Amino acid sequence: MRVTGTGHASMRIDTAAGSILCDPWVNPAYFASWFPFPDNSLLDWESLGQVDYLYVSHLHRDHFDAKHLRDFVSKDATVLLPEFPTSEMEDEFRALGFTKFLKAPNEQVVELPGGLKIMIQALTSPTDGPIGDSSLWVEYDGVRLLNQNDARPTDLSVFAELGHVHAHLLQFSGAIWYPMVYELPQAAKTAFGKQKRDRQFDRTWRYIDDLKASHVFPIAGPPCFLDDALWQFNDIHGDEGNIFPDQSVFLSEYAKVGGTNGIVLLPGSVAEVTTEGASTTHPVPVQEFFANKVAHLEEMRERKRPIIEAEKASWRHPEVDVLGEMKRRIEPLLDESIYLAKGVGGPVRFDLVGYDGESVESIVVDFPGKEVRPYAEEKVRYRFRTDRSLIEHLLFIDEVDWVNSLFLSCRFSAARIGQYNEFVYAFFKCLSEERLQYAEGWYDEHERTTDAEDITLGDWVVQRRCPHLKADLTRFGIVEGDQLTCQLHGWRFDLPSGRCLTSVGHKVRAHRVDAETPAPAGEAVI
Ligand code: FES
Repeated sequence: MRVTGTGHASMRIDTAAGSILCDPWVNPAYFASWFPFPDNSLLDWESLGQVDYLYVSHLHRDHFDAKHLRDFVSKDATVLLPEFPTSEMEDEFRALGFTKFLKAPNEQVVELPGGLKIMIQALTSPTDGPIGDSSLWVEYDGVRLLNQNDARPTDLSVFAELGHVHAHLLQFSGAIWYPMVYELPQAAKTAFGKQKRDRQFDRTWRYIDDLKASHVFPIAGPPCFLDDALWQFNDIHGDEGNIFPDQSVFLSEYAKVGGTNGIVLLPGSVAEVTTEGASTTHPVPVQEFFANKVAHLEEMRERKRPIIEAEKASWRHPEVDVLGEMKRRIEPLLDESIYLAKGVGGPVRFDLVGYDGESVESIVVDFPGKEVRPYAEEKVRYRFRTDRSLIEHLLFIDEVDWVNSLFLSCRFSAARIGQYNEFVYAFFKCLSEERLQYAEGWYDEHERTTDAEDITLGDWVVQRRCPHLKADLTRFGIVEGDQLTCQLHGWRFDLPSGRCLTSVGHKVRAHRVDAETPAPAGEAVI
């Protein structure tokens, strides 16, 4: 099995029974904030795109690059579709001209002509990607590969049960706006960033240890930030709180925990993977490439500047009545929302900075009041500050997912009182009837599910499944003192009270091993 690195989370898998192109991403994403690192735009995409199969793990724009798919990927390719709850992905592919689809039944091995086998695991909670993320398992001639990508299943047993995996490709770096955009003192930001960076690596080690593959390939990040306004997010400034470590940092951190089987794929690197081992060739020596990272980024920044400027010029739509349009689109959804609205629980304020860089229009999405209105000087728990032009553009293009556009762009700042609230982001990725209904239904079901099984961790008896997204705490739970941390997303819980320290709601059921009467059962998820 041949695996060609094509940048970020992308790869091309070649076997004698067919080829699969995965997640090809070349054009900037999220308001021209993210670019693939290392640069992959100079690869021979005309030939890379001539494949038998195409697999895109999810709809985040650094995985689903519509322009690139339209221009460079053969429309004769069969699209391998994860079993997602909505038809959005298939609809998007059809709009690009793809007509051949294989809807892979979730977690079932499918044998393709020639003996190529695949299995796709779809994750479908409202917090998994843009309503859905997935991983692809491939087997040909006894060689097995798992492209876990940036999916975060609670465990990898469904893949491990299919036999020893030879190539495990997974995310290790950051892909979020936290904590950089928060209006916090720099020291706090650094401390939070460092915690996050450590947690990302811990989670990666956990997955690697779960699967024990012959070779581990760090993929799916980091992106690079080429706009001058975002340049500081690149991990080139010696900031230990930077959440975007690169593949060379992965190798050195992995070595510290005893990892010796890591293989970095640069764009154009080719790994021949067999049951016996892997041999890799690179377009340039890997160490040399990372030693020259700053020069690579600077050169790329100059080359891509016109693209960024052209994108920026397309965002202003002064004719858009932002308040009126937000009312028109968001209020009907607020009316229908039960779980998400209750989960957010208060007003969310948007401060929109005008073209002059100074004037500010403040709009409140009032979840309890179910309306969108001008800010009325009340106290709000969540506040976002961004350019009015970005919101104009989102309304102009009728964007239904503000996470997959505005928030991932990092072109905003945020402040909040109290804990992280996942419902805020879940709502703003569900600005369509279909998505909202799905998310509401999911939370409804989730709330009804009682999770009676308990386990013992240290001195504590706790519910087996994490109150966040049901990770198995026998694997992901760590108790230190009176605190439980679930390593899947790093959420922390105060065990004596059961209170979640990371996000609103999500109480855990727990009591001391020697306590006679267990604490009351965990609260509902919201
Ligand atoms: S499942 Fe997300 S922190 Fe536990």
